Formats: sequence, C-alpha cells, structure tokens
Amino acid sequence: MFNECPIHIKTTHFDTELQNRLEWFLQQPGCSWILDRSGGGDQPELTITRRGVFLSIGKEQLTFHPSMALIRLINLLRGETDRYLEATQLKPGGTLIDATLGLGTDALIGAWAVGDRGRVLALEKSPIVAAIVQDGLKHLQEMVPNSKSIDKRDAWITLVRVSKQIKVIWADNRNYFSNIPDRSVDVVYFDPMFRQTYEHSHAIQPLHRWSDHSPLDQEAVLEACRIARHRVVLKERKNSPEFQRLGFNILLGGQYSPIDYGVILV
Ligand SMILES: C[S@@+](CC[C@H](N)C(=O)[O-])C[C@H]1O[C@@H](n2cnc3c(N)ncnc32)[C@H](O)[C@@H]1O
Repeated sequence: MFNECPIHIKTTHFDTELQNRLEWFLQQPGCSWILDRSGGGDQPELTITRRGVFLSIGKEQLTFHPSMALIRLINLLRGETDRYLEATQLKPGGTLIDATLGLGTDALIGAWAVGDRGRVLALEKSPIVAAIVQDGLKHLQEMVPNSKSIDKRDAWITLVRVSKQIKVIWADNRNYFSNIPDRSVDVVYFDPMFRQTYEHSHAIQPLHRWSDHSPLDQEAVLEACRIARHRVVLKERKNSPEFQRLGFNILLGGQYSPIDYGVILV
C-alpha cells in the first residue's frame, strides 16, 4: 500500500535551504528516491518548495499542515474541552507514545497537554509519512501566516513551541514497543487507519495511499499495556467491534460524533 516504488524527488529552487532539505529527505531510512526533475504523471513525486513539501501522484497530493491541530488548539485555549484529551487524561510533565502518528494532529495536541516538561514519542510505519511529518514539524515556524486574529496567532505560536517536544520515529509500533521497559510511559495512544474506509474523513483522505491500513494487532495492545503506567487509548469508528476484540472499554460522550474512544486502565 505504501512506498512500493521509489519516489522522484526535486526542489523548485536551487537555494541552499531547499537543497539541505532535499539532502535530509535522501537520508531518511526506509524511503527510496529517484533524484531528478522529470517525475510527475503517474509517478509519485516529492517536490520541496519554499511553501512546503508536496507528495503527489497525478492530482492527488499529500502535504503536512497543522490545520486541524490549530482549530482544536484555538478551542482549547478558549477553555473548551477535547475528547482526545478527556480520553488520554494527559497531564503537564507527562509522557505519551502516539503509536500511529499519521499527520500528527493528535501528537501536537498531546504535546500541548504534556507541556514543556513532557515528552511525546510518535511512531509511524510508513517511512514517507514519517519523513514528511518530521520535516513539517521542523519547519512549522516558516508556515506561520500573518494573521490579524489574536486567537490564531496565539495558537500558531503555541504549536510551533510544542512541536519541538515531539520525537518522530519510523517504526512498526509493536516491534518498537518490545525495546521499551515496563511502565515507562504514562499513556499509549492508537488511532489506526482501519476505519477510514467507512469514515471518509477529508482531513485524513490524502494519507490513504501512503499509510498502513492493517487492523491494530492484539500483541501491540498487550505490549502497550505492559509499557504504559496509566492507560492505553484507542480511537475507532462508533460501535466498532475493534473495541471489544482488543479489550477496550468505550468512553461515554460524543453522542453525535462518528468516532469513539476506548480505554484500558493498567
Ligand atoms: C488514522 S492515521 C493517524 C492520524 C493521527 N492520529 C493524526 O492525528 O493525524 C493512522 C496512521 O498510523 C499508521 N500506522 C498503522 N499501523 C501502524 C503500526 N503498526 N505502527 C506504526 N504506525 C502505524 C498509518 O500508516 C497511518 O499513518
């Protein structure tokens, strides 16, 4: 499903900054590249521009942008609640493993919740998704728009700050967990792709082609319960049989939402 063929890679300009960024991509583990300017069409192509990095096949395009995290953070800074934070119960100074990074929205909100003294380790099985999100987080400051809205400005500044707390690793979560000691992280969070065929979420749709769609592995959940100190959380489609199959208790709330959160207290 993802990264089955090498990806053409190019920059739009020859300045040092874009060339350095290209060099960085070339060094990322798990990705294979064709360094040329002729990709496009049916060939996957990563274009590094002064406005960001775009992975395209034909008209389909994947890029990193923290838009959903921004909306959620604006609401949080206004004092509203967030179901993910209610489910994870992350505290300042806490530690989180986001075992399914995707486009990093939940990891950013988690990083905000654990604050400057906390840590977020984010695992992603697709090497190209891991690379694009890691690059995006590193260059978040350059994406900050000139906004007149104080709420938006505050949220952007906060996102840039908390993005530094997220460490991205290209890994299969279950394999990675086996190197982590018992009870060494507060919360482990799973948000697998499995349900996306039903959900048709626009925010996550471009991720489809490049991500791993396997259902969550029971062994990964058992390992998560071993390494977590407080809880393991699963986000899934409403009424998904996955909660029962994997032993999660569904949390009440989100009556009109298409998703639910399940928790295992450890
Ligand atoms: C629904 S997305 C996560 C979205 C994310 N919570 C966000 O806020 O952007 C699921 C991601 O998990 C990744 N994934 C699936 N199985 C995985 C595994 N075993 N280990 C690590 N990542 C995995 C997929 O490649 C995909 O990018």
